Amino acid sequence: MSNKQRIYMAIGLCYLFFAACSKNQADTGTPVEPPTPSTKVTYTNTVGALLDTKCGFCHAPGKAQASFWTFNGYSSVIDRADQIHELVLVTKVMPKSGSLSATELKSLQDWYDQGKLQ
Ligand code: HEC
Repeated sequence: MSNKQRIYMAIGLCYLFFAACSKNQADTGTPVEPPTPSTKVTYTNTVGALLDTKCGFCHAPGKAQASFWTFNGYSSVIDRADQIHELVLVTKVMPKSGSLSATELKSLQDWYDQGKLQ
């Protein structure tokens, strides 16, 4: 095969490849997928562990500040979601004598914004 023939063949293959792709899409009518959205922040994948680390030692059952708020799983956070939002993200009174990193604050804010998923 001459070089010229090789080039023609390569061009031909490219053409077939692209023609096949665009034809497929037109045939099935499948919409082009949007880029995969980044994983949502959930209680299970992020927020539970965050609150456990940052609030648990004062607010877990039996701990010194459990009478003010007992941190005991998803529902205990949902029950006080508005207050926790206020104390941690707005006034930043909690965690008492501690703080959350910028990343932790963002995760928590995202969790609220995305609907407080379990
Ligand atoms: C070092 C101990 C400590 C840590 C850590 C801590 N808290 Fe508190 N928390 C307190 C104390 C003490 C109170 C009682 C109210 C006060 O003194 O402000 C309280 C009260 C609360 C209340 C009830 C407020 C009210 O007015 O009824 C909520 C809700 C709360 N904390 C959420 C959190 C959250 C969420 C975190 C973690 C991000 C956290 N706390 C971390 C000590 C702590």
